[in-house]
Amino acid sequence: MAKVLVVSGGSRGIGFATAQRFAREGYRIINLSRRPCELPGVINITADFSAADWSEALAAVLNDVFPHEGGRAEVALVHSAAVMTKGGVGGVESAQFRQCFEVNVVAAAELVKRLLPYMAQGSSVVYVGSTLGEKAVSNTAAYVVSKHALIGLMRSSCQDLAGKGIHTACVCPGFTETEMLLEHIGSDEQVMASIVSGITQQRLLRPEEIADVIYFCSNNAAVNGAVLHANLGQIER
Ligand SMILES: NC(=O)c1ccc[n+]([C@@H]2O[C@H](COP(=O)([O-])OP(=O)(O)OC[C@H]3O[C@@H](n4cnc5c(N)ncnc54)[C@H](OP(=O)(O)O)[C@@H]3O)[C@@H](O)[C@H]2O)c1
Repeated sequence: MAKVLVVSGGSRGIGFATAQRFAREGYRIINLSRRPCELPGVINITADFSAADWSEALAAVLNDVFPHEGGRAEVALVHSAAVMTKGGVGGVESAQFRQCFEVNVVAAAELVKRLLPYMAQGSSVVYVGSTLGEKAVSNTAAYVVSKHALIGLMRSSCQDLAGKGIHTACVCPGFTETEMLLEHIGSDEQVMASIVSGITQQRLLRPEEIADVIYFCSNNAAVNGAVLHANLGQIER
């Protein structure tokens, strides 16, 4: 049976590394993001998850793309797209809160809904969460809440997909060297030094390391309903 990766946020960072990893294993790749995933052979669907109508474009492509073996394939669905919204409780604008939720959580749920009819037994849904799915830091309320919610979505997926042969997990990266992190901390070397000093391995993760964990989860049905932290070990303070 054909194997298809549907990844969100494959234009860069962890999503891009995930597309590379699955492409190496022979998967056909469909990416959804505003900018394209620049790997050869990828089917790019331009989607802005903060806009209401993005999933119509997906529906149109799916019928064409999926192989004709009953219209199903072994699908690995990976929701990596996210925005990190700054602002604390009492400060963050409602519009920003909603936008963060649309991209980080609602888009994930919509992707599952749209893809389910095409997912054969052996398919998987991997949500890319965060360390901040199970703890909070200040001034990041919308993002923290969205990543907690994503774990709830993963646990609900595990329950609701029971009996379908589809497994699910939430991979929670620690500090990973991507544009999201670099944009968040800016060029402040002291902040970077402080982050690295809080990691037992004294370095940032590479996106490829997270992609390996995502690939592992996607290909191991024993990992179902699980939250996996992949953070190089964080020093408790
Ligand atoms: N980097 C870290 O340290 C870290 C730590 C913990 C968790 N994570 C999680 O890991 C995942 C990947 O993050 P990353 O570090 O790879 O971030 P990144 O480099 O900023 O990539 C984010 C991706 O999300 C897509 N995206 C953002 N807004 C979108 C929108 N409105 N519509 C559609 N796509 C959108 C972007 O694509 P376009 O801009 O092309 O639309 C991009 O491909 C996220 O879920 C993040 O929360 C990252």
